[in-house]
Amino acid sequence: MSTPSPIFVTGASGQLGRLVVAELARRAGPERVVAIVRDPAHAAHLFPAGVTLRQGDYDQPATLATALSGAETLLLISSNAIGARVAQHRAVIDAAKTAGVRRLAYTSVLHADVSALELAEEHRQTEALIAASGIAHTLLRNGWYTENYTASIPPALQHGALIGSAGLGRISSATRADYAEAAAIALLDDSAPARVVYELAGDTSYSLTEFAAELSRQAGRTIPYVDMPEADYRGALLSAGLPDVLASLLANSDAAAAKGALFDDGKALSTLLGRPTTTLAAAIAGALPH
Ligand SMILES: NC(=O)c1ccc[n+]([C@@H]2O[C@H](COP(=O)([O-])OP(=O)(O)OC[C@H]3O[C@@H](n4cnc5c(N)ncnc54)[C@H](OP(=O)(O)O)[C@@H]3O)[C@@H](O)[C@H]2O)c1
Repeated sequence: MSTPSPIFVTGASGQLGRLVVAELARRAGPERVVAIVRDPAHAAHLFPAGVTLRQGDYDQPATLATALSGAETLLLISSNAIGARVAQHRAVIDAAKTAGVRRLAYTSVLHADVSALELAEEHRQTEALIAASGIAHTLLRNGWYTENYTASIPPALQHGALIGSAGLGRISSATRADYAEAAAIALLDDSAPARVVYELAGDTSYSLTEFAAELSRQAGRTIPYVDMPEADYRGALLSAGLPDVLASLLANSDAAAAKGALFDDGKALSTLLGRPTTTLAAAIAGALPH
């Protein structure tokens, strides 16, 4: 019997990447996982013993050629360098093609083909590059991370209000851990057809008013949701110290969420996981200071 080929993961040192590597190691054994990181010296401690570490920088194509040598299955975790991502992802896709990768998985965004989110544009262009590469592929179109909102819990508790510009929009978010487990399952599926597209989102949607109500219940005091125009929310995020690009992106995403851009009820994520997605109540409980 031939040894199963290793699974390569780029962006492995990121918050999602670490969880994917851990889940792959748990399911397939650490010796089957190759974690590609920008800076191995600062990343080795992030992974289970037995995982192979390789250096690869999206901005330095020569490093990617070396990092991907021998790769058959690759997860490209989208970069966080907003505005530079298409060129970075192109470098990985080109290196994957040269290396003879047989399946390329990519962390895209929910409903990337039609999404009104500004950040979806780079994902659309990346998906087009992947399709044009001719490599069999799995598009993991991840919805919003629940952590994007639970990160607002400390300031909400401090100021006595949760702010945003998502209006009554319903958000079908899921935790990074749920998306990571789904990625591992999809990567280990040897029978996947040439093109697979998963629209991944939480089982249950909520409005930010409902998020604030659940937070209030668990915190034992009323934290209302205060909706504001996109520009005002962006201004509030800038005042809180967020970088310009991130403040604009989060405010734009909230405004798009008001029109349904973060909603999905297809339950593809729980179907892939074989269990319900983590509830909002559990995610808030995990994020509340103890
Ligand atoms: N669905 C959502 O709600 C949502 C929210 C935010 C982001 N995202 C997308 O999902 C991705 C993964 O999420 P995350 O939470 O894991 O983000 P993250 O913690 O910011 O991780 C981003 C990863 O990209 C790597 N990276 C950036 N530039 C690179 C380069 N030039 N060469 C190699 N690696 C590079 C980083 O490497 P270092 O560790 O070396 O910095 C890091 O491992 C993000 O990058 C973004 O595209 C999705």
